[in-house]
Amino acid sequence: MKILISDKLGQAGLDLLDTLEDVSYDMKTGLSKDELIAIMPEYDGLIIRSGTRPDADIIAAGSNLKVIGRAGIGVDNIDLEAATKHGVTVVNTPRANSIATAEQTLALMLSMNRFTAQSHASVGAGNWNRGDYVGTELYGKTLGVIGFGYIGRLVTARAQAFGMKVVAADPYVSVEAAAELDVELLPLDGLLAVADMITLHAIVTDETKEMINAESISKMKDGVMLVNVARGKLVNEEELAAALQSGKVAAAGLDVFYSEPPENCPLIGLPNVTHTPHLGASSKEAQAAVGIQIVEQVVKVLKGEEPDYWVNK
Ligand code: MLT
Repeated sequence: MKILISDKLGQAGLDLLDTLEDVSYDMKTGLSKDELIAIMPEYDGLIIRSGTRPDADIIAAGSNLKVIGRAGIGVDNIDLEAATKHGVTVVNTPRANSIATAEQTLALMLSMNRFTAQSHASVGAGNWNRGDYVGTELYGKTLGVIGFGYIGRLVTARAQAFGMKVVAADPYVSVEAAAELDVELLPLDGLLAVADMITLHAIVTDETKEMINAESISKMKDGVMLVNVARGKLVNEEELAAALQSGKVAAAGLDVFYSEPPENCPLIGLPNVTHTPHLGASSKEAQAAVGIQIVEQVVKVLKGEEPDYWVNK
């Protein structure tokens, strides 16, 4: 059984693969679509992160392909319909990098509020302008969590530890389930109206795509702050940039962008934006856990066993 790893995978995953006698692998990153199509027939399994985008052509070219393993959570870069049509099982690692993502969310919240990135650059440029960087505290503020799944709840617990009140919006969660975690579940508009800071933890669907836009921003408090460690396509970047320039949105902490790397993105370089290059899952611990878990899932499928995290079952 032969696996192609087409994005960088944590060493722990490769080490696990090395121990398996009946499985071999090639790690070939940065391949173009045509290069991928040319070599796909050689492989029974494909392991990717967010860089590779297995579309219908790539999947169809995989005449021996049985499984695509997404080392991470989001499967928006995979044509799931094509995979299902071709009988290709898609698996992911839904919880392995969640703590890293929650911690990155808090890192951006703290950085935004205390001007960490801006003041770091200023000191590096030889300045010592303490008065320019008087921040705000998380303590006592209301955090609005949009998407109250596993990561949203990890963020909630950490925000509560900072003394924040948390409200959440999620059509798939009950008021009671949220209340058990001391969280008030609100309709989206209700959350937008009361939150001092908003953090996105939703997946991209027809319903959520560009849900942060001029209209939803107009329903937010003046001076609200926004964090996005989920997916860039949740945000209309032009309309958020306009709101950051007008001051309606005081600051944004952005780890993800509409296209990655960002192309002509109006948010890049704005003085009130703290941006990072999709590092949510990039902790050593998360990469090790994701690497091991995706190898386990892919090998299960190749051996004819039922995987634990079967996305297109
Ligand atoms: C995920 O979906 O797991 C994260 O965005 C991390 C990644 O893309 O590698």
